[in-house]
Amino acid sequence: MRRFWLAISHIAPLPFDFLVKTGCLKRPAHAYCMWNAAKLAKGLGYNEISVAEFGVAGGVTLLIIERYAIDIEKQLGVRIKVYGFDTGVGMPQTEGAEDLPYWFRPAQYAMDVDGLKGRLTSAELVLGNVRDTVTEFFVNGDRPPLAAIFNDLDYFSSSCDALRILDTPCANFLPRLFLYLDDVVGSANEMYGPTNGELAANDWFNRTHDRIKIHLNQNLLPESHHYWRYQIFYAHLFDHKRYSDYIGGTDQLGIEDALRLQ
Ligand SMILES: C[S@@+](CC[C@H](N)C(=O)[O-])C[C@H]1O[C@@H](n2cnc3c(N)ncnc32)[C@H](O)[C@@H]1O
Repeated sequence: MRRFWLAISHIAPLPFDFLVKTGCLKRPAHAYCMWNAAKLAKGLGYNEISVAEFGVAGGVTLLIIERYAIDIEKQLGVRIKVYGFDTGVGMPQTEGAEDLPYWFRPAQYAMDVDGLKGRLTSAELVLGNVRDTVTEFFVNGDRPPLAAIFNDLDYFSSSCDALRILDTPCANFLPRLFLYLDDVVGSANEMYGPTNGELAANDWFNRTHDRIKIHLNQNLLPESHHYWRYQIFYAHLFDHKRYSDYIGGTDQLGIEDALRLQ
């Protein structure tokens, strides 16, 4: 069915949210996060947002995300600025066993920076170690609020450093963010789990932060056809000044109707 809808979409463009629901896009999890982040932005009255891929390598995924941003803007009218964070020279040194040194090596996944820049149409590369670049990222105050993070940095140490972007002022973000973690499932060689790599970084973040919490999405769990449902997380910025703005709208009215005695 996925192939069928994909083939149809090449002949006659289908609505982006339909493609998200059917899971037939090349990066369904990224599409899900971007679509829903843009919807949340629209509901709150933001007309532009940022999304960031942490760990770009050759740029295969970044180029796809860039395309999704255009499609979503056409449908929802929310502009999405795409950023890609990477050293530009591949994986840094591992910093401990939690970085999975049995599976990842320094200098792996090096980027052809000029080649990728030549192919990107709107996405911006943020080159350097995320340990340094995330703290500088919002300094000029000219970035749209960040609404989705795609973490493919592999290491525990790099993922912790990337999450430090959430230590910058709440105004740099939507009140709730969509997070995608790439290295959650993997193979019997990789052995990803809550004590290593990207997942362990989420745990570290929650242990060290009281007013921002990250958790696995619950709403996708019954959707067993979405193989990526264990890879989507939400970040709640409880101190964000827009956190409590009501977004129930017609969805909530439907629930209220269903619960009313006839
Ligand atoms: C698996 S690759 C990313 C693949 C890419 N997301 C894709 O789907 O095409 C991991 C990337 O993370 C980058 N990386 C890891 N730790 C980093 C750090 N501390 N700062 C910046 N980049 C880092 C590496 O340079 C590498 O290119």
